[in-house]
Amino acid sequence: MIEENKEKVFILDFGSQYAQLIARRVRENNVFSEIVSHKITAEEIRKASPKGIILSGGPASVYVKNAPGCDKEIITLGIPILGICYGMQLGCQMLKATVQPTATREYGRTACTVNDNSKLFKSLSKDTTVWMSHGDQVVELPAEFESLAFTKNCPFAAVKHKTKPFHGVQFHPEVTHTPQGSKILRNFLYEICECTGDWKMHSYVENSVADIRKQVKDGRVVCGLSGGVDSAVTAALIHKAIGNHLSCIFVDNGLLRNYEAEEVINTFKNNFTVDLHPIDARERFLKKLKSVTDPEKKRKIIGHEFIEIFKEEAKKISQAKFLAQGTLYPDVIESIPAHGGPTVTIKSHHNVGGLPAELGFELVEPLRFLFKDEVRKIGEELGLPEELVWRHPFPGPGLAIRIIGEVTKPRLDILRSADKIVIEEIRKAGLYRSIAQCFAVLLPMSTVGVMGDERSYENVIAIRAVETTDFMTADWCHIPHETLGIISSRIINEVKGVNRVVYDISTKPPSTIEWE
Ligand code: XMP
Repeated sequence: MIEENKEKVFILDFGSQYAQLIARRVRENNVFSEIVSHKITAEEIRKASPKGIILSGGPASVYVKNAPGCDKEIITLGIPILGICYGMQLGCQMLKATVQPTATREYGRTACTVNDNSKLFKSLSKDTTVWMSHGDQVVELPAEFESLAFTKNCPFAAVKHKTKPFHGVQFHPEVTHTPQGSKILRNFLYEICECTGDWKMHSYVENSVADIRKQVKDGRVVCGLSGGVDSAVTAALIHKAIGNHLSCIFVDNGLLRNYEAEEVINTFKNNFTVDLHPIDARERFLKKLKSVTDPEKKRKIIGHEFIEIFKEEAKKISQAKFLAQGTLYPDVIESIPAHGGPTVTIKSHHNVGGLPAELGFELVEPLRFLFKDEVRKIGEELGLPEELVWRHPFPGPGLAIRIIGEVTKPRLDILRSADKIVIEEIRKAGLYRSIAQCFAVLLPMSTVGVMGDERSYENVIAIRAVETTDFMTADWCHIPHETLGIISSRIINEVKGVNRVVYDISTKPPSTIEWE
């Protein structure tokens, strides 16, 4: 739980693709933020007493029927409000301004002139660049408003109400394309909401340890380790709280990356001296995956087998009452969508956190308020090794969904060796941390090559590297050609069974990050 007396800012979500980004930007400024539905009542907000409220952007138009709105009473709470894009239009409309479609949509980087830099724009230069993305805008402002900034096509790019605690910006301060955006948000938090900045990872660890102790008392917690950062930080945090009352289960499914299993075992057995139950299930998974080529079938088999093994092992841990899960804040938000509505299953995700309720455990989820970058900070704070804390995300079904077609031991060995080279070279080039995810994919199709004087007829390795903040959309990385060249020649020279390397230059959407 977040302590009651801690500063927080509520972000009312009107269906913005940037709501999570706003929340992260606020937290980067050391203020805790929470995304809440736009339907939250003024009374609920009053009870929670946030220091500020941010109204997010959104795809609707404020003047259409059934446009998402908010409780009008929030204006009377005396809590500072910042409206962003749709949020600004909504706030202005509630305060009697007129919003209309623009003649020309404003989209992208735009020059903006600030005509009042008292609080929101404090320490900002008069001329700045902002990121715009709107088809509507405020066209008429009542006299109770002041205009704070304008662009060529937008006369009210930022506004302030003279008597009510409302500011609005038509642009997006949360995106990096607004270079001074973070400063603007900081000004809102510190100059207008008068926050002091008490959201620090160190105190989160202390509070979380106290919460875990309170929840678990002298019970025993079981935690599944996957090799990834989330489950590792969960385990380390719980271990700090309850020591040897934590038991960890690590299932080696044979689908992990090079030396990953050894690393997890070493870290938790030696550094943390956790009660670790490593299970070598490599053969078991391979047998189940024999002749399976359909991606969804692979996922189902792996997910199902993992649960079976976990159940068998958890039964052996007597008096285990609690199950630790590395659920993160984005998972929590996604399970309560702003507008509900059906979403299509593109891929059925399996991860260690996906254990079914029938296991009968009470859940312990110490990361449920955190974003990934915050989890990493906590991992560092808890002394987990750097390679583990900064490891790129890795899917639950592991290398099985990076081998197109049937998963076999020789194919896994080829892919592991190629993947190791990709990661080594990306690290050497100093790119590992700036890339969100980078890996090799085995395309078990043969192509012709020539090695020495011999004809070869071997597999293809594809390299995938993406930039993304939320993994919902992604762009392929522009890795320097020189680095790609080194990777390619090392793989072809060092990995037996590969004679061709290709680079994946597809964005998500329409492609996905993983190939299966
Ligand atoms: P896609 O391929 O859907 O991947 O663009 C988005 C992100 O999710 C990861 N991923 C998974 N993670 N279990 C997981 O825990 C899964 O089954 C799974 N499938 C994809 C993927 O690696 C990327 O980070």
